[in-house]
Amino acid sequence: MKALRIAILGCGNMGLAFAKAFLHYNLVARPDLLLVARHDEHCQRLALQHPDLPVAALNAAVADYGVVLVAVKPQDFSQVAAGLRAVLQPGQVVLSIMAGIPIARLQHELNHRQVMRAIPNTPALLGMGITGFSAAPEMERSRLHEVENLLNATGRSIFLEDESLLDAVTAVSGSGPAYFYFMVKAMVQAGQEMGFSESVAGLLVKQTLGAYHLLNSSAQSPDELIAAVASKGGTTEAALREFRAGGLAETLIAGMKAAQHRAIELASE
Ligand SMILES: NC(=O)c1ccc[n+]([C@@H]2O[C@H](COP(=O)([O-])OP(=O)(O)OC[C@H]3O[C@@H](n4cnc5c(N)ncnc54)[C@H](OP(=O)(O)O)[C@@H]3O)[C@@H](O)[C@H]2O)c1
Repeated sequence: MKALRIAILGCGNMGLAFAKAFLHYNLVARPDLLLVARHDEHCQRLALQHPDLPVAALNAAVADYGVVLVAVKPQDFSQVAAGLRAVLQPGQVVLSIMAGIPIARLQHELNHRQVMRAIPNTPALLGMGITGFSAAPEMERSRLHEVENLLNATGRSIFLEDESLLDAVTAVSGSGPAYFYFMVKAMVQAGQEMGFSESVAGLLVKQTLGAYHLLNSSAQSPDELIAAVASKGGTTEAALREFRAGGLAETLIAGMKAAQHRAIELASE
């Protein structure tokens, strides 16, 4: 079988996180992972940081890579598309992780059929991400599984037949890390108002996210785990009563639906 070759177009946070994950799991050999950047200065920086990986500007050599990962900002896509469509060959798979650009637009602007679209999240940087992905109807199944294997290097992945659900993935897990950080910030602030320094409050709150591991490793539901902490007439119950009175759950749900709505708007712009 021919060795997999991957070109990464857009070597920022996400593009490099994916590159690191592919190498970590030996999914691609170093000489077969091409980093593509647009400015000379960026190419030089990448070459210094990754001396054993090929680095280049977008050129015809990209045609030799079976998978082309597009990880530029959505607003840079049209410029990238103009260059990429000139070099793409029919057997190549384009995997986009850009938010808000539907498969139909990717296919149209790239004049290319074999296209997949994925929504990762930033814990991909640690191999602890979750990615929802969809594929164009023209995608060969074997190629789809090849790309699924690549996505799993950054954490876990879930295939969605219905591409429109990617807007919900964006709202739930794509933006999700920011919701956690928002909550962490509020909890740290509460700790400070109770008399702790920022660093002690930060330590108390961050270590409390050990609760995530309990949730992940136990068969109990969130309600059962809450019940295990909240005894009748106790402190947790006092906090939960306040949360319910303030409509905290409803506010979170409304915020996430606003994110979904924005994702739908962006996709139709
Ligand atoms: N961050 C997240 O949580 C998240 C989650 C899901 C999806 N995404 C998607 O992931 C994509 C990348 O996000 P990011 O946070 O990694 O952005 P980023 O750090 O800004 O990286 C984007 C990179 O693309 C490069 N680039 C722009 N135009 C280019 C071109 N014509 N040719 C080659 N390289 C080019 C930029 O290079 P310069 O230095 O030259 O500008 C930059 O290094 C976005 O589309 C975003 O929607 C992000």
